[in-house]
Amino acid sequence: MFVPCSKNKYSFCLLRIQFLRGIQSLKLPYFGALFKKKTMLKKILGVALVAAIFGACQNQEVVKEETVIIEVETADDPHSFAKPEVTAVTHLDLDLNVDFEKEQLSGSAMWTLSPEHGDTVIFDTYDLNINSVTVDGKDANFALGEKNEVLGQALSIAVPNDAKSVAIAYSTQPGARALQWLAPEQTSGKKLPFLFTQSQAILARTWLPCQDGPGMRYSYNAKITVPKNMLALMSATNPQEKNAEGVYTFEMEIPIPSYLMALSVGDIVFKGVSERTGVYAEPAMLEKSAWEFANMEDMVVAAEALYGPYIWGRFDVLVLPPSFPFGGMENPRLTFATPTVVVGDRSQTALIAHELAHSWSGNLVTNKTWNDFWLNEGFTTYFEMRIMEAVYGRDYSEMIASLSHQDMVHDITGMMESEPEMTSLKMHLNGIDPDDAVGAVAYDKGYNFLRLCEETVGRERWDVFLNSHFSRNKFKSLNTEEFLAQLKQELLSDEEWKSIGVDEWIYGTGIPANSPSPQSTRFENVSKIRTEMLNAIAQGIDPKSVGDATNDWSTSEWVDFIRGLEKPSLVELEKLDLAFNFSATKNAEIKAAWMQPTISKNYTANDFKNHVDAFLISVGRRKFLTPTYRAMINSDQKDWALEVYKKARPNYHAVSRETMDDLLDYHPEVNL
Ligand code: BES
Ligand code: ZN
Repeated sequence: MFVPCSKNKYSFCLLRIQFLRGIQSLKLPYFGALFKKKTMLKKILGVALVAAIFGACQNQEVVKEETVIIEVETADDPHSFAKPEVTAVTHLDLDLNVDFEKEQLSGSAMWTLSPEHGDTVIFDTYDLNINSVTVDGKDANFALGEKNEVLGQALSIAVPNDAKSVAIAYSTQPGARALQWLAPEQTSGKKLPFLFTQSQAILARTWLPCQDGPGMRYSYNAKITVPKNMLALMSATNPQEKNAEGVYTFEMEIPIPSYLMALSVGDIVFKGVSERTGVYAEPAMLEKSAWEFANMEDMVVAAEALYGPYIWGRFDVLVLPPSFPFGGMENPRLTFATPTVVVGDRSQTALIAHELAHSWSGNLVTNKTWNDFWLNEGFTTYFEMRIMEAVYGRDYSEMIASLSHQDMVHDITGMMESEPEMTSLKMHLNGIDPDDAVGAVAYDKGYNFLRLCEETVGRERWDVFLNSHFSRNKFKSLNTEEFLAQLKQELLSDEEWKSIGVDEWIYGTGIPANSPSPQSTRFENVSKIRTEMLNAIAQGIDPKSVGDATNDWSTSEWVDFIRGLEKPSLVELEKLDLAFNFSATKNAEIKAAWMQPTISKNYTANDFKNHVDAFLISVGRRKFLTPTYRAMINSDQKDWALEVYKKARPNYHAVSRETMDDLLDYHPEVNL
């Protein structure tokens, strides 16, 4: 008999513990949140759990369907089964073989336990095949909990008090959600397959049994064996060329959380950009990428001048095939980037500034749980603007800040109608996949809050505070409340706290009335030119006759130009398209902006629909896919959306695929 406990889907879930060596099946209701924060109790409960599980095992009695009610402390992290307060890990030795034919990683993960630990260690897993577990080299019992669709399964291992390490022999399944296995046709070289991981937010557990929460850190060494003509790279010290054996070793001696574990394998080559920065890419993308990111060193120098030394050694960027589901991912020492920012005019390097900024906000000082995600992304967006300002000047960074403001207003206004509770900076994601909460709130509302702090106290005081924030909290994970306590203690007077309205910004919904509103002089010019062009079109004149004012426009100016076309007519769209060839642009940011008014208006000129199809089939960046498919749905063109999605879906990484399946209400078994 079970005690169903469904109030909170995750912390009260029922753990079905299956013993893979020895016995059978025990069912344990898991009463997490009841005992939060009572440390003594935690220890006792931890012992009780282990005694019950392993006692049953040693007894060698068949215990069938017996219910044992044990109360266990749940970690403060609602997205991890691990209990580092009982047993934490400090180091990982990973040994994996990469099999492209089977689309499988297999090998072992050996974890060093922290010297003082409890009697059990728990890891997060998701659809891993666990083959065997040893503790200090001796076979050990382990138990896999019942699967939760979002969190996966807890892997519990009994560890004697003097145990030093546990080794888990395992393999992944072909559908492992972090991994994208690309066939040769899906790469630019077309000859060799390609693999990359995306671990953030909670997908590391789909390719590695680990304590998968941002509050837990460890160092790692790895040995990765790949087909002989391929290069392997990780979020660690990296090789710069292939070797004959196809065996690569890696070291990340600085402790990092699991969401920063990363691996990529392919026909990858390297080109240095400066002494400590460089680019990895498929051969066809290498030169273009190195040219595009030529100023990486300037960015690192600017970042260090702002908030302290870059502690990670090298800063390299891996340009991935176009199916990469994000713009960038801040894997330490090896940022992953979408090739859609390699546009040939260096106008999208803000993405590099952003991922570099994470080397401080995120990788050095980390959000404690995904409920505090704004601490990672809001700080990083703020820092990104400061790097861009230092390298390109204030009028450039204010364009990006204005676009961020537009995103905030657009997205949060929409959310206030459907899900206002999701618009607070502090989130409550119990029972929700953190990946579904990535958006303008953490990034743009977070940015504007920090910008308001800066404007309130002045840049000088603010920068002193941020500098000490990064050195005081380095290698720590902070939650929102811990950060606010420091903000109060170290920076804001009571009056300043009130005038900012800190509590409203953090816990309230919507956009507070005192939000900063960046003013971009370059966008004022865009607005003027736009009006002149629309007037020209109204008079039957070619919009280009307005002059050559647009010749030196950056991507941001074009995006603002298109976004500012309020309810354009089909004629206006067509004339602008004839003049600037938006439908055929290779610049994904501009194309994504252009697809909004056009799709909504059922626009078809200039081979538009074929260009959209080609874009959706090749590019897997979720930020572009979501608004494009949504525009189709909202303009009664869902048939078109489904038709192209069926072709595009096999090219998407699971992160994008799952979001689009939901958006389009697509079920692969039904919508064949
Ligand atoms: N860390 C994020 C990407 C991410 C967030 C992956 C949450 C999974 C879950 C990365 O730093 C990021 O913010 N990327 C942006 C870059 C942009 C803001 C310049 C992106 O991908 O669009
Ligand atoms: Zn980010």
